[in-house]
Amino acid sequence: MHHFQYKGEELFAEDVAIKDIVAAVGSPVYIYSKATLERHYKAMDDAFAQAPHTICYSVKANSNLAVLKTFINLGGGVDIVSGGELYRALAAGVDPKKVVYSGVGKRDDEIAYALESGILMFNIESEQELDRISDIAGRIGKKAGIAIRVNPDVDPQTHPYITTGLKKAKFGINIERALEQYQRAKGLANIEILGIDCHIGSQLTKVSPFVDAIKKLKRLLDGVRGMGIDIKYLDLGGGLGIQYDDEAPPLPADYGSSIQEETKDLGLHLIFEPGRNLVGNAGILVGKCLYTKKGEEKNFVIVDAGMNDLARPSLYGSFHGVRPVFRNQDGVIEGDIVGPICESGDFLVKEREIPNFRQGDLIAFMSAGAYGFTMSSNYNSRPRAAEVMVDGGKFEVVRDREKLEDLVRGERVPSFL
Ligand code: LLP
Repeated sequence: MHHFQYKGEELFAEDVAIKDIVAAVGSPVYIYSKATLERHYKAMDDAFAQAPHTICYSVKANSNLAVLKTFINLGGGVDIVSGGELYRALAAGVDPKKVVYSGVGKRDDEIAYALESGILMFNIESEQELDRISDIAGRIGKKAGIAIRVNPDVDPQTHPYITTGLKKAKFGINIERALEQYQRAKGLANIEILGIDCHIGSQLTKVSPFVDAIKKLKRLLDGVRGMGIDIKYLDLGGGLGIQYDDEAPPLPADYGSSIQEETKDLGLHLIFEPGRNLVGNAGILVGKCLYTKKGEEKNFVIVDAGMNDLARPSLYGSFHGVRPVFRNQDGVIEGDIVGPICESGDFLVKEREIPNFRQGDLIAFMSAGAYGFTMSSNYNSRPRAAEVMVDGGKFEVVRDREKLEDLVRGERVPSFL
């Protein structure tokens, strides 16, 4: 459920008319609904009411400070994968003790920054990383809390690019080798072993792969506890899918009850790293139709938002629903909605039935709150879009549209030219 609905023939974000936002800030623009973000967070939080747990929102999905602050206000922590994400989360006021740090390529400076900031734990993705974190912690006189990110070799049955928990993936430590790494970690003076972690993939539409992974982790947990190591946290990553088109992902409540059933006797504090599930349907991208080219080989609707703004359709062939901001088109056509970028792969919609848009029409691309703005770029020297958050009947710009000067910020022509 989200709060982008029609009132009569006009699309609203909560109680704000989309056209009013575009009139104030222009297009393309990302629009987030605070009520939807809160609703999704609470659904996830309530789903785990029977278990001690922390929701560490996965910053990569949408890292805007306003989004982070919305979840922090509700008691959320964060899952980060870079020093930049830590910086954002701290700027938004996160409690460092609710920060978990994942990712296969943590740099020395990023590790030191996280240690100095006092984060809860690092999710260790390789043997070498364990040693590196131990060394840096020793050098700066801190103890590093860790979990080992285990690769449980479970197929999440999702898009190959966002499958992470199979043996062939670059992520985590193979579950068969995890025990020996716990043994090694136990011998490292600057390491405090806190947990076991896994994340198997994204946009999962079934609960069973999560349960399969937990079953494997439980065997590992027995082994680790058998070595006299006191494990406190079980971090189950993110990955619960959302409805973009006609998928029927499990509700957070179903996901919660299956996982709690599987983990109830373990005496562990659960950590989750949801991204998409919290923000995906809480955001839309609104663009404007610049031109239409009809009837030749194909129908094209050319809009002012492109793959630099929303990369998912080009990158993964992802489906995003399309809604006219005013429902006053004359019938439907079969066609593509494309952006201004000079690439044939620059499409937001491919060969679908769409409203018969005219020049000037505003078009909402739905479910764009996750991996939308965060994956946007300046390709073709296009300033990145503005971001707006709506709360009931009011809205505020939460990131200014980039200006032309922003495009060349930090660049210089060398003295020899
Ligand atoms: N934790 C870890 C360690 C992750 O790698 C990810 C996502 C998450 C949590 C959050 O997963 P979520 O709950 O959002 O599924 N750009 C792709 C998705 C990439 C996901 C990467 N990792 C897309 O647009 O579909």
